[in-house]
Amino acid sequence: MTKFSSTTPIYYVNAQPHLGHAYTTIIADAVSRWHRLLGDDVHLLTGTDEHGLKIQQAADAKGVTPQAFADSIAPLFEQAWQRLNITHDDFIRTTEKRHAVGVQKLLQACYDAGDIESDVYQGQYCVACEAYFLEDELENGNCPIHHTKTTYVEEENYFFRLSRFEDRLLKWYADHPQAITPGFRMNEVIGFIKGGLNDFSISRKTLTWGIPLPWDKSHVAYVWFDALANYITALGYGTDEKAFAERWPVDYHFIGKDIIRFHCVYWPAMLMSAGIEPPKGWAVGGWLLVGGEKMSKTTGNVVNPLDLIDDIGVDGFRYYVLADTAYGNDGDFTYEGLISRYNSDLANNLGNLAARIATVVEKKCGGLGPKPTLDSPLAQVAATAVSETKDAWAQVQPSKALEATWNLIRATNSHLENNEPWKMEVGEAVDRVMGDALEALRIVTILANPALPTSTQKIWSRIGLKGSITDLRIDADTKWGQYPGGVTVVKGDPLFPRKTA
Ligand code: MSP
Repeated sequence: MTKFSSTTPIYYVNAQPHLGHAYTTIIADAVSRWHRLLGDDVHLLTGTDEHGLKIQQAADAKGVTPQAFADSIAPLFEQAWQRLNITHDDFIRTTEKRHAVGVQKLLQACYDAGDIESDVYQGQYCVACEAYFLEDELENGNCPIHHTKTTYVEEENYFFRLSRFEDRLLKWYADHPQAITPGFRMNEVIGFIKGGLNDFSISRKTLTWGIPLPWDKSHVAYVWFDALANYITALGYGTDEKAFAERWPVDYHFIGKDIIRFHCVYWPAMLMSAGIEPPKGWAVGGWLLVGGEKMSKTTGNVVNPLDLIDDIGVDGFRYYVLADTAYGNDGDFTYEGLISRYNSDLANNLGNLAARIATVVEKKCGGLGPKPTLDSPLAQVAATAVSETKDAWAQVQPSKALEATWNLIRATNSHLENNEPWKMEVGEAVDRVMGDALEALRIVTILANPALPTSTQKIWSRIGLKGSITDLRIDADTKWGQYPGGVTVVKGDPLFPRKTA
């Protein structure tokens, strides 16, 4: 069985889950759901990033221990993902024992390879990024991402000798030219490596909230070294080598463009040093901006996804995230944009199609859905939609995939409008039109299931079909002509009631 394993970033517990976190997680979830429908053996990992100065400071501000602080926030992520119907197979917290064991093993492996050495660090640090900056990377002395003052830091640190990995990284990427999607991000990474790599600090002596270095307990691991390791510790590195070997290397790390250097330069070098293969791929998303800025607690423009769900439902929100922005580009979140996308694609297209089919079947077919015809003009449209939808999901382009699926919805709506079955006499002609529309709708519900898991299942049941869509397989079950006919079709309440902004 083909395996498909992927990961989301692990989210800092200094902030509650927001739209930006939901964005990356929903994309990873939908791609994973698609692979389950292909019949793959899927594993999706997510979790929380709980160490480091940023969390320490957030806990201090609340007057609680960092552990108590992390314990209060991590469940909010688990709850949010449950609400958003995220089907992760594992949720790792970096304060778990299994993680500490694996991080120490990775540190020791890099140390034993001679790639970690002691040195003195002098320079600027942004706590919100948990990252060091060179003077010329600052904007008017501020962090280029958060626009806040950085802090001057000077301390004895252990350094990872990243500078030694330039050639190895370039060679690896040359051998794996498809590893980063979308492709233009690969150029960015190559350019960055070619520009020369600086060693980076992997430990802090002035901080206690972290995982101690195995060879020098007076230091804790730098939070990014610790965090990146989650991708292997969750799979069993250091605790269950057999499980680890079965899942690593993963197919994709789903990440945002802000953390590309950590993931596409630091991380493969760390793995190479420890004698572990790099991941097979990275899928790099843009930002969902609010008023032109990245959403972040530090910037103060946070949108809570759970508020939006109350308004347009979980599926409405998932659909917006997946369909509205081409993956890889930045998107601009506006409430008006959300409502207009919902109304046009869900209320007026899919919702309307399901409702009008049920109405006509009730009035003209005695409430029993007729069988499709095999020579329907919709059969070809459906075959094209299936193949284009497949290609787009394979390229991690959910918006393109949904566009291809929606072509079939639009064609089916036109098929009804052109034939006007509501004006026809009861009989064979109306049965043919409706059988074909039902078959197209059946195929649509399978194709759209990764984006709209709840409403597609509802449509499936309303058109008289049994079982769970998630048990179906794209190749076998989207072939034209399988709607059984003679089954009861019910209308039910509107799936996507129209909204006003
Ligand atoms: N903890 C680190 C990641 C460690 S992974 C080994 C971190 N956490 S974060 O909570 O600040 O953000 C995680 C990721 O969420 C971002 O890198 C990005 O992928 C995603 N997003 C956060 N805000 C976002 C938007 N406004 N838009 C899209 N994605 C954004 O960084």
